[in-house]
Amino acid sequence: MDVYGKFVGLAEWKVLIDDWLEKSEAGQQPDAFYNLKPDAREISYDAIFVGGGAAGRFGCAALTARGGRGLVIDKWPFLGGSCPHEACVPHHIFSEAARELDYAREFGGEYWYPEWDSTKASILEIRDMFMNNRNTGHSIMNFQSKEQLGMEFILGSWAKVIDNHTVEVDGVHYRAKNLVLCVGARPTPPDIPGIEKYGVFDWASILDDLDYEPNRCVVIGGGKTALEYGSFIQATGCHTTYLSRSPILGTKGLQHVDDDIREFVVRMLKHRGSTIHEGAEPLAILSEGSLGEDKVTGVKFRDAQGNEHVVDTDFVFLGTGERALSHQFDVLGLELNERGQIVVDKQMRTSVPNVYAAGDLIDGPMEMFKARKAGVCAARVIMGETDYEFDYSDFPDFLHTTYEVAWTGLSEREAREQYENVMVIQMPPKGIAPEDCGLPATDGSMFFAFTRPGLNGIIKSVIDADTRKIVGMHSVGFGNKNSFQYLDVLIKQPGGFTIDQMGEVNELFLNDGFPQLHRLRAGQKQLRDL
Ligand SMILES: Cc1cc2nc3c(=O)[nH]c(=O)nc-3n(C[C@H](O)[C@H](O)[C@H](O)COP(=O)(O)OP(=O)(O)OC[C@H]3O[C@@H](n4cnc5c(N)ncnc54)[C@H](O)[C@@H]3O)c2cc1C
Ligand SMILES: NC(=O)c1ccc[n+]([C@@H]2O[C@H](COP(=O)([O-])OP(=O)(O)OC[C@H]3O[C@@H](n4cnc5c(N)ncnc54)[C@H](OP(=O)(O)O)[C@@H]3O)[C@@H](O)[C@H]2O)c1
Repeated sequence: MDVYGKFVGLAEWKVLIDDWLEKSEAGQQPDAFYNLKPDAREISYDAIFVGGGAAGRFGCAALTARGGRGLVIDKWPFLGGSCPHEACVPHHIFSEAARELDYAREFGGEYWYPEWDSTKASILEIRDMFMNNRNTGHSIMNFQSKEQLGMEFILGSWAKVIDNHTVEVDGVHYRAKNLVLCVGARPTPPDIPGIEKYGVFDWASILDDLDYEPNRCVVIGGGKTALEYGSFIQATGCHTTYLSRSPILGTKGLQHVDDDIREFVVRMLKHRGSTIHEGAEPLAILSEGSLGEDKVTGVKFRDAQGNEHVVDTDFVFLGTGERALSHQFDVLGLELNERGQIVVDKQMRTSVPNVYAAGDLIDGPMEMFKARKAGVCAARVIMGETDYEFDYSDFPDFLHTTYEVAWTGLSEREAREQYENVMVIQMPPKGIAPEDCGLPATDGSMFFAFTRPGLNGIIKSVIDADTRKIVGMHSVGFGNKNSFQYLDVLIKQPGGFTIDQMGEVNELFLNDGFPQLHRLRAGQKQLRDL
């Protein structure tokens, strides 16, 4: 379907996307959406972006904004990729639901909360709420990209890379001076016997394939995906057992997680009723039923002491990571690392001339900031900013449980390894039982602070006492997460940011913790813990 030169409004995009997806699910091959200038087949684009997710869409927008001619191609009928379709957005909905449900359970029968009734909280219902509405977000992406950003695109058709200047779509060759590969990553099931059984889901298949209300859940993994989905599932009243090979939040890909933060997170997961096995190796997914129709009944695992156990369950959720889709481009002979990710330099250049890669296809954290900025970096370099580089080795980070967990900079342990005199500001203070302390009481934690002080959260700042510079900040609770985007910039700016400067910051919420607590120690000559 040719949409070039035609105004397509939001409502119309939603109908087109709904229709495309319905046809595709019914096994038909719906027409792709072409938004191409008439000379598209004759010219050589400045860049073709293969994959229109976070990396491809932002990359193409940046190239177009700088006067370049870009084309973005996606196999889905919308731009934006996995984040709005099946990853971040449902994760945020599930995490918001988890937080609401957590309150409903904790305060059931008090104030205006009815008695807690776990039969009312349906995983399927919350999932369906997302699924029934997600195309609204997709239509905004298409509208914005076409009408406001002036991007050329082909949506709803696979791109096949022929060589480093040519991409084929529906039998037609499109030419470009450069390619930017942005096809992302997918969950890959770990090699555990029985993993293919009915009842094993990941973040993608829980959306498309879950067709029963689980009664018990085993989560395999101890990273972000595992904790975010596990916390949600437990919050609905479905008992959740974590089988985590490394300690919870201790997986290699997660940097700078502070020990006190980890301890609080694990204690709070247990408080909500989850069972946690760290150092656990899953051995087999057990099932019952006739061959081909057998359904999960349990997971066999070996604990840290070497003993074997079985956890009964009708639902296994995999939070075991993802694999880059780099093999689509084997024809190019790109250099890959040991994890199958495309190797790039700080300008997102691959080992093949004129080929760039961005997003989850390359190493580093699989996060939106990296995907978007890597796509933009490739575009800027292509458009002649020859000195432009993107370093994603250091970044603020977060995840959800029923809480927001956010951090930037060093953990206390890392800081003590690096600096001689480390000072810590912490609330609740070290040595004080959280149950006895109604702080930090950050924005959104007041109910817990006043009625369940032990649950209201923890904040922590790590300071090099010699230079007075803040080197790490950490928070579990509510209301602080987004400030870490900016705290990260402040404490990592050249020259750093001192405890005294933090004391000068004007807080908006009385208890947001950081400015006021730093102010109490600002000016002290020999800094002491607080
Ligand atoms: C459960 C979950 C929750 C997450 N939550 C967050 C969060 O809260 N915050 C955050 O920062 N990050 C989050 N992430 C990470 C974030 O979703 C990814 O880092 C980001 O989406 C990666 O963007 P990308 O452009 O590299 O890939 P994608 O967005 O996956 O885009 C790749 C695109 O390529 C297309 N494609 C693939 N092959 C072809 C082909 N041959 N031809 C045409 N098109 C093709 C696909 O259709 C897709 O649209 C989460 C991830 C998961 C799994
Ligand atoms: N911003 C967000 O909210 C968000 C949300 C989800 C994902 N993401 C990003 O997406 C990426 C993937 O995250 P993720 O949590 O899915 O994966 P991850 O960080 O790679 O963690 C994978 C977990 O699964 C375990 N695991 C892997 N293979 C296993 C096996 N065969 N048997 C048992 N355990 C196994 C790992 O244990 P070991 O440690 O022992 O290997 C680890 O605990 C990360 O970059 C993450 O930052 C971001």
